[in-house]
Parts: sequence; C-alpha cells; structure tokens
Amino acid sequence: MKKQILGRKLEVSAVSLGCMGMTHAYGAPSGVKEMTQLIEQAVDIGYTMFDTAECYTGTNPDGSTAYNEELVGNALKPHRNKVIIATKFGVRITASGLEADSRPSTIRQSIEGSLKRLGTDYIDLYYQHRVDPNVPVDEVAGVMQELMNEGKIINWGISQADIDIIRRAHAVCPLSAVQNRYSMMYRDTEVLFSVLEELNIGLVAFSPLANGLLTDAYKKGTVFNESGDYRSFMPQFKPEAYDANRELLDMLNHIAVEKNATPAAVSLAWMICKNPWIVPIPGTRKLTRLEENANAANIELTQDDVKQMDDLLNQMNMSEIFGGMHVNR
Ligand SMILES: NC(=O)c1ccc[n+]([C@@H]2O[C@H](COP(=O)([O-])OP(=O)(O)OC[C@H]3O[C@@H](n4cnc5c(N)ncnc54)[C@H](OP(=O)(O)O)[C@@H]3O)[C@@H](O)[C@H]2O)c1
Repeated sequence: MKKQILGRKLEVSAVSLGCMGMTHAYGAPSGVKEMTQLIEQAVDIGYTMFDTAECYTGTNPDGSTAYNEELVGNALKPHRNKVIIATKFGVRITASGLEADSRPSTIRQSIEGSLKRLGTDYIDLYYQHRVDPNVPVDEVAGVMQELMNEGKIINWGISQADIDIIRRAHAVCPLSAVQNRYSMMYRDTEVLFSVLEELNIGLVAFSPLANGLLTDAYKKGTVFNESGDYRSFMPQFKPEAYDANRELLDMLNHIAVEKNATPAAVSLAWMICKNPWIVPIPGTRKLTRLEENANAANIELTQDDVKQMDDLLNQMNMSEIFGGMHVNR
C-alpha cells in the first residue's frame, strides 16, 4: 500500500487500522480468533500501523476483561519488526466520562502495563490520549523524552490537542503525530494544519468515517441497541440525520461512481490526497471493509479535486456529529 509520513521519518500505510472497535465502543467485544485473523489479513493487505489504547477494554461474555492491547500485540507478534504499534496513555473510563491522568507516576505504570499486554519491549508511537488540565504538557513531554532515552518508545504524539498544547509539547520533545477527530463531517481540525506543516508533525485522523456514517452503509431506521454501542447516542445516526446528510452522501456516491470506488474509500482518499502527512485509521471488524477501506490508497484525487470537494462541503448542510466524551479530572 502507498505510504504517508508522520513527523520527520515515521513511514506508515496511507490507510492504517483503528483496532478500538474490536473490543470497545461498538457493542460486545468480537471473538479473539476472528479479530486475530483480521489483523493478520490487514498485514497481508499492506496495513502497517495499528492503533490501540490502554483504555480500549470491553467485557467478554464470561465477565472477563477484553484487553485491546493484548489482542493487537498477540496478533502482531509474528510481524513485530515490520509494523508500527501505536497506543495511548492518560485516561481512565468512568461512569461519568473520561478521567484524565498524566501524572508522571501514572505514565510510568501505564507504559509498563502496555508493554506487557502488547508483548513487546518498545512502542513505536505513544500518545497522550487526552490533555490533563492538572499536569503541564511540558512535564508530560519531559517524561516522553525519558522514555525515548530508555528505548521504551520511539515516537510520541498527543490526541485532541490544540495549537498552544502542540507548540509547548513540541518545544520540549518533538512530536511525530497529533491524533484528532477528522472527517468530512468534522473539519475543525483543519485549524491546526498550518502549525502541523510548520513543525513537521503528522495528523492521524480518528473516526475518519464519522463512525461509519460516511460509508452510506447504514440507513434510516438502523438501530444500534447493543449495550456499550456508542452509536446509539451519536447524533449522526438519529433518524432525522439521514435526511440532513443526504447531500453529503449523494456527493460521495457520485464521486465513488466516477472513481469506481465506494463512498467509504472516497471519504478516506479525500484526506490522504489533501496532504502526505495525514493518515486515517478507520476501524472495522470485517474483512471486506478492511479491503474496501485500503482501496482508498489507490484513489488519485488532484489538489483541484480536493478543493472542489472542500468547496462543496463548506456550503453543505449536515447533521450534528458525535464529539466525544467529556474529559473530567
Ligand atoms: N484518540 C481518540 O480519542 C480516539 C477516539 C476514537 C477512535 N480512535 C481511533 O480511531 C479508530 C477509528 O475510529 P472509529 O472506530 O471511532 O470510527 P470510524 O473508523 O470512523 O468508523 C468505524 C465504524 O465504521 C464501520 N465501518 C468501517 N468501514 C466500513 C465500511 N467500509 N463500510 C461500512 N461500515 C464501515 C465499522 O463497522 P464494522 O466494524 O462493523 O465494520 C465501525 O462501526 C479507532 O479504532 C481508534 O483506534 C481514537
């Protein structure tokens, strides 16, 4: 698969794989055997970066905890030297939302736990999952520099960071990537682009398919009622949202026909072709979708094509989109 570059030298597949949904946020965890096979198939297709997090856990039918890092680490063990493992520290999921905790002592515990669950002695890309309002980012960046010196991490990044945080963090220990929500339905992240370009930091786009809405695979009346499926409360999946997003989905279908592709692949190609340092990490638990999403790397869109799409998006009506859980501390 075509590659993109994050930061100074982290080369990764233009479409990389978000593994969260295999155990977390989309209903009950999927079977370990099936997901291990799926990750193996992703490697065969050419995916090279795999995104997980300390907090992506779920509850198995027997009541035990499904650790996403364990699943990803085990599946990638035979391929360790040719893949990029990205994981995250710094949040706990509680009944009232996400709790940020990036105290140095907590990070030290987290890295040891992640290395153990992943079955590796280094992490290629280690993200602060959310900024902790009680721990200056400069201090977090200092801990990242120490972990690099110790060989425990190779690159670091921050998820959901703004310009001030990015500049302060980068000044202490250069960032390779910022991981923020970014899709055709959520373009606020574009305010960071000039700073990312200036500092040579990549953007890893999470929820790049707007949690699946941009694939046009879900129709009005689809219900997500399984316990732990966050789509049940996402505004883009409310019945009225399908009408509000019709123009967007029509545009995607129209370009998909022209490019002999699917709406999902076009919506990913739009960001890959925008900049060589943007990498979407769509999540899926299905082989056909893994292949479909990877095909985005084969779609060529010129800067003019991308601009025309942006111009259309700028004036389009869309529904609200899920913006994530509130961070407490
Ligand atoms: N940093 C953060 O705070 C943060 C937050 C959220 C997510 N993330 C990362 O970003 C990754 C992706 O984000 P996401 O899962 O929230 O959203 P997403 O990738 O936009 O959407 C995933 C959803 O779309 C469906 N899907 C994927 N490809 C499809 C296709 N071709 N056709 C139809 N449906 C398709 C999947 O269903 P199936 O599984 O049924 O195919 C899944 O329900 C996560 O895995 C995680 O690693 C990070």
